Amino acid sequence: MATIISNRRVAEGIYVMHAEGHFEAKQGQFFMVRGWDGYPLLSRPLSVYDQDERGVKFLYKVAGEGTRMLSRMQAGDDVTLLGPLGNGFPAAKGRTALIGGGIGIAPLFYAARHLEQADLYLGYSVEVYEEHEFRSLGHPVEIDLGGIVLDRVNFDDYDTLFICGPEPMLRAAQIKSAMSSGRAKVYVSLENRMACGIGACLVCSVGCENGRKKACVDGPVFLAEEVVL
Ligand code: FES
Repeated sequence: MATIISNRRVAEGIYVMHAEGHFEAKQGQFFMVRGWDGYPLLSRPLSVYDQDERGVKFLYKVAGEGTRMLSRMQAGDDVTLLGPLGNGFPAAKGRTALIGGGIGIAPLFYAARHLEQADLYLGYSVEVYEEHEFRSLGHPVEIDLGGIVLDRVNFDDYDTLFICGPEPMLRAAQIKSAMSSGRAKVYVSLENRMACGIGACLVCSVGCENGRKKACVDGPVFLAEEVVL
């Protein structure tokens, strides 16, 4: 159980929750979060947006009943956190770009905080949020509003790419990667629907070159060339 320090709305349907506790989350990991007993049954998987001496932060989008309930919670309320879970991002080598689409920007903030060099490309559909926070990290930040953020990135300029966003964006990234010189190691973080978060239910099953894997324990970060999307 963790007490909520704050839960602020940063855009239409987008919130940042700060929950108390000492965690040692790696970049790209997630927690299963719930603030209720019984219905809705499932906890919600939320990526680690940031972590500080007081606790962990989640940047999340209201996408259903569970996240709607989370968005109504206030400072002083308790949430149940299971985690940190998943493999997270590997160590970035060489010139690195982090590319996020929509709420997929969430895990990139914490990743960027730990990198000496990174170019950030953030894609939004209707409203820009948390721009000031991303810029405060000191890395170059390119914002795309209403367009295709991937179009702004030349994969051959980089050695490592971390990409997180909706599935069509990740598929487009796979194609772009296949058409590039192959210089960059391209990693995608899958926002698969998860139920248990600990490898017990197969809800997050994802096709891979060597059979099926579980996004919650084998991912959520995979090499782009490894997964079938
Ligand atoms: Fe249950 Fe991954 S969410 S196995």
